[in-house]
Amino acid sequence: MATVRPLIAGNWKMNGLSHQIAEAEAVAKGLAETPSSARVAICPPATLIDRISRELADSGVEVGGQDCHAEACGAFTGDVCAEMLADAGATLVILGHSERRAGYGETDAVVASKVEAALRAGLEPIVCVGETLEQRKAGQAVQVVQAQVRGSLPQSLKRRAFSVAYEPVWAIGTGLTPTLEDIEEVHVAVRAVLVEAFGEQGATVPILYGGSVKPSNAGEILHVKDVGGALVGGASLKASDFLGIIRAL
Ligand code: 13P
Repeated sequence: MATVRPLIAGNWKMNGLSHQIAEAEAVAKGLAETPSSARVAICPPATLIDRISRELADSGVEVGGQDCHAEACGAFTGDVCAEMLADAGATLVILGHSERRAGYGETDAVVASKVEAALRAGLEPIVCVGETLEQRKAGQAVQVVQAQVRGSLPQSLKRRAFSVAYEPVWAIGTGLTPTLEDIEEVHVAVRAVLVEAFGEQGATVPILYGGSVKPSNAGEILHVKDVGGALVGGASLKASDFLGIIRAL
């Protein structure tokens, strides 16, 4: 099977004021001192994308958005489109995060239209999927996640760079993580859908794990079969923790 270059991305969520740009700089500095085999990205709030991408230019650390509107422009007060993220210096964008799906009613179809928007703007999508605790307890985790992958990934992703992030909703920000066996089961199931939908390309798409990843559990999680990196929330806000996760690879 083709090898997948891991991607470790930090999702700062709605955290980050000017003074926290120093954390992004510290990540770049740490990687300059001890390079990683992984691709590393930071997804700060939209307000910091421009400044952080300038600071990180030439560092190898990529910058991403956390969401985008499906339209390229128009009367959508408060929204940000993919072209704006790219214009500010982003090269990636997180789409379909469970906090968007749950809090803003984003369906698979909405996520798929945002993926189209990201591709139109030249951004690489990181498409999030994940089951709720109720769904896992009902034994539906694999089925739910596979359906989200099928519904959220349009065929226009063919021959385009993208990744999928498996983030069990109940593991986000809770300190809880699935067993390594459960992570493997879902990642293998996601891989099967990717290969079914995208053929050979599907075998090389990184499938990130997200949900309470920290330096102490990153090593074992990142070595699970078909785990191609991590999407890190809370622990990406501090450079030392984020670097600890990157170095666990
Ligand atoms: P935590 O790492 O804080 O659990 O968040 C995970 C997440 O939602 C990343 O997108």
